[in-house]
Parts: sequence; structure tokens; C-alpha cells
Amino acid sequence: MIVFENFRIFKHHTVSSTNDVAFDLITGTNLPLVVVVAEEQTKGRGRAGHRWDSRPGGLYFSIAMPSRGLLEDSRLIVYSSLPVAEVLHDLGLTPRIKLPNDIYIGDKKISGVLGERKSEYLIVGIGINVNQGEFPAEIPATSLFIETGKTFDRDDILYNFLHKFRILMESPESHFERWIRFVSALNKRVSFTYRNTKITGIVEHIDRELNLYVDGRKFNIYEIFGLTEP
Ligand code: BTN
Repeated sequence: MIVFENFRIFKHHTVSSTNDVAFDLITGTNLPLVVVVAEEQTKGRGRAGHRWDSRPGGLYFSIAMPSRGLLEDSRLIVYSSLPVAEVLHDLGLTPRIKLPNDIYIGDKKISGVLGERKSEYLIVGIGINVNQGEFPAEIPATSLFIETGKTFDRDDILYNFLHKFRILMESPESHFERWIRFVSALNKRVSFTYRNTKITGIVEHIDRELNLYVDGRKFNIYEIFGLTEP
């Protein structure tokens, strides 16, 4: 176990999903803030029941903490894409946040966040494509290696992320201005699924309570799925 700032970090080679291991660990110990990192996952999962390609070379980790209630947890899940975007920006890339919390380089996904609330705990799982050289043709993904031709130290990326995440956790909403700079949907025509209904229209405004305003209607960002910016 490694201690870094407030985090207790547990490293594994192969796990089913770091979200599940982190949940088991925090429920089985009294540790307040647990991080589980793996080299690969056999059952890496994404939002909406999608699979997360978890071959070696990527950075796969989950942070487990006591829940702070639905609103606070949802807010932290949305804002968790900010430290990812900032880490990638520090490395010279130009990331954008596709709502609610995917991170893209151009039209290719480089990172995703899966937040899960389970019996009084919040698990924030992050996948960042770092040193993978290729992806299956059906996955429109990229990695730091594909973008730059260089390999990266995944520990450096993890520690840079955790440092930023610890500050974010203290008051996520105070990071709104920095977060919105990375959000690409503003003033664009978008489509997404909201409470089982397909919505299409222009994004006119995003407020500090994390609502999206499309053609005069208000949508909670936490509940948006499958957003596309055609
Ligand atoms: C998404 O974009 O749909 C979210 C992807 C989240 C993937 C990460 S990898 C670490 C953690 N463990 C999982 O099984 N999923 C998350």
C-alpha cells in the first residue's frame, strides 16, 4: 500500500473491475479514501452498460470514499473529468469534455469516468488511454501514445491526477470556470438521451448547478446519456 496525500493506494496486476475491488476494500476496512489501480481489467465497464477496453498500457483506477449524498456525489462525478482534462493539457494535448464526463481529443475518446453509488459509498472509476498502440476498429478511441508518438509514465499521470482531485473534492463547484472552459457543447447543436427521451437542439447555456439549457428547456447534466455533437 502506498500513501499519497490523503489517499491509500493499492496496486494490482489484473482485476475484474477496479470499481468493484475499491468498493470491497473500503467496505472491508475503515480507510476513508482508497485508490485501486490495475494494469488490466477483465471486466472493465463504462457508463450505460458499455464495456471499457482495458488492455495493458492504459491507466485504470478507482477512488472510493464515503458518500456525501446524491447531489454532492453526482456533482463530484461530473467534475472528475476536470483533473483528467488538466493532466492531459499539462502534457501538451488539447482535450475537451463531452458531457457529462467523457474526455476527447478531436473526435476520439481518450478517457472516461464511471461514478457509482453503492451502500453509503461513492466510487469514481477513471480510465485513461496512455500507452496503448491500437484499439479494435469499432472503438473510436485514441491514447497519449497515438497522439504524441511517446510513451508516458502512468504513475506520474496518476499522482498528478490525485493531487488535483484532492483539491477538487474539497469544493467541486468552485472549479466551475475551469471546468466549463473544457466543455465543448456550448452553442453547438447536440443530441442526447434524457430519461428515455431523445433530445436534439442547440445548447444555449450551462449553469453552475450543472444544468444544460437546450432550446429553452433545462436538463440535468448528471442524467444525460449518449450526447453527440454532430
Ligand atoms: C465511460 O466512459 O463510459 C466510463 C469508463 C470508465 C472506465 C474506468 S477504468 C477504471 C474503472 N473500472 C471500471 O470498470 N470502469 C472504470
